[in-house]
Amino acid sequence: MCGIIGIASNKSVSMNIINSLKKLEYRGYDSAGLATLNNNEINEKKCSGRVEQLEKILFKTSAEGNLGIGHVRWATHGVPNTINAHPHSTEIVSVVHNGIIENSNDLKKQLELKGLKFKSQTDTEVITLLLTNELKTHQPFDAVHKTLKQLKGSFALGIIFKNFKDIIIGARRGSPLAVGYSKDENYLGSDSYALKTMTNKISYLDDGDICVLTKDNVSFYDVKKNKINKEVFILSDDKNVSDKGDYKNFMSKEIFEQPITAKNCIHEYVDKIRDDINFYNFPIKPQSINKIVLVGCGTAYHSCLVAKYWFEAFTSLNVETDIASEFRYRNVRFNKNNLYLFVSQSGETADTAAALDLCKKNGIKTCSIVNVVESSIARNSDWVLPIHAGPEIGVASTKAFIGQMLVIYMLCLKIADLRGDMKKKDYQKKISNIKKLPELLERCLKVEDKIQLIAKDFLDSKGSMFLGRGSSFPIALEGALKLKELSYLHAEGYPAGEMKHGPLALIENGLPVIVIAPHDKYFHKTVSNMQEVIARGGKILLITDSNENIVNENIRFKIDLPLVEESLSPFLFTIPLQLLAYHVALLKKCDIDKPRNLAKSVTVE
Ligand code: AGP
Repeated sequence: MCGIIGIASNKSVSMNIINSLKKLEYRGYDSAGLATLNNNEINEKKCSGRVEQLEKILFKTSAEGNLGIGHVRWATHGVPNTINAHPHSTEIVSVVHNGIIENSNDLKKQLELKGLKFKSQTDTEVITLLLTNELKTHQPFDAVHKTLKQLKGSFALGIIFKNFKDIIIGARRGSPLAVGYSKDENYLGSDSYALKTMTNKISYLDDGDICVLTKDNVSFYDVKKNKINKEVFILSDDKNVSDKGDYKNFMSKEIFEQPITAKNCIHEYVDKIRDDINFYNFPIKPQSINKIVLVGCGTAYHSCLVAKYWFEAFTSLNVETDIASEFRYRNVRFNKNNLYLFVSQSGETADTAAALDLCKKNGIKTCSIVNVVESSIARNSDWVLPIHAGPEIGVASTKAFIGQMLVIYMLCLKIADLRGDMKKKDYQKKISNIKKLPELLERCLKVEDKIQLIAKDFLDSKGSMFLGRGSSFPIALEGALKLKELSYLHAEGYPAGEMKHGPLALIENGLPVIVIAPHDKYFHKTVSNMQEVIARGGKILLITDSNENIVNENIRFKIDLPLVEESLSPFLFTIPLQLLAYHVALLKKCDIDKPRNLAKSVTVE
């Protein structure tokens, strides 16, 4: 939810901190700040708003020093203003934090009783004052260790000390933290993305770890203060990551990249020579699986909902889906023969990570479907299935959604084949259909011009409904989520058959209703539901691949998509909905890549 950076160097660090914070803004952008150590003085600069505001401050009053920490914030405790921005410093220590300290109120009371004064409303300042207290009698490492033992909740920390000009201490519990290595410089960061412009050599802290970092060396310690070693990963080279090319923003780039990213994903998993799908090392033999459980948040959860229809159609398995923030607190009946699939683009979503952790604590094998293979969720899973979509920077997830669905679709086919639930000829047919998907997505993108005209209709609407049946229902949910998070307009995804049980009361003259109607077994029932809406004045945008002639003057717009095997319709029908949300948001002049109040990776619960 927030982004952390720390740099120990043989040269000034403030501009590198600023550049890294810009890379981290997708994790939160309510406020920004940094602190450097110069001539044994902590030099703190921070502000509400974006990193560029902080940069302007630095142009006026530089922050010298070869050692420093920085932070971009997504507010959890305290409004996003300068006082609550990180770092939180006293004269002798400065702290940046990502996470939530759940016992901060109790600790605050104890510290105030000792006469310590708080300036902010944040939980993080509690850490700063605890450290200040411990540093009166302990060296930095022990002061940190004693402080962490008093904290309940999650944290990734970067800490610098007035009288110790060479060290940055990092610590991790529940929120991601990485270390980067370079000549005469070492780094601390929330994730590899912030560090990869400075180095491709990365290690990751695990929960309970502490690291002590100087410009020449990094030492790691476990929760018992034992010195430990950490594997050094060499990051792949994503030259084009930070480059929008000719696109206005990352989201449009990522929408139009979908045919390529789908092709890359298919290339990774489909063996063109043997015409087979390459999934190996199943954590449970497919023949022994008795239930599939899919867990995720937001868009990732919607891919779980779509997958339920595929597993029920192609296999003899029971299927359960759950929102991660619900799953982690439910009284789950674990079964070692259930295959638990955790879906997460970032691989850092706290609720999904906690749900996975709950499985591991119950001795259950886990599988994660992620975009970031170095992420915490991936490293904590028994089996990782990357979606190969390349870094997704836009907060609204697009190409990752297609990638998640694609990996789950291929996994479902493979399990159906290995279990004998699907005839070989059907399996081969579906593989050949998958290969056509990139070209079909390309064709769907061509509806953009028509979507731009339709988008104008949404600007003055009070809200909108997205309707679908079967696997089109989760696509309706996804379309509504895209419109909400990008344009800040209310939108609701609903099962088309459910409208008559209440929500039909919402329909009034001119209300935009998007009807998702592939030519599947639900088609005619969905059209009937559409008629019910039309009879009450709803303004219809019908998206279909059916060539049936549906004429009605109240169908304000109709988008025709290429005809495709019905199990692939979730992929195609997502595209016009992404484009619709994008163009409405563009007309409303919303921030496309960084919508208000959101963050790309929600690493707190
Ligand atoms: C999707 O557009 C949203 N940004 C959000 O719902 C997102 O899908 C959710 O936070 C899960 O993120 P993850 O896939 O990184 O776990």
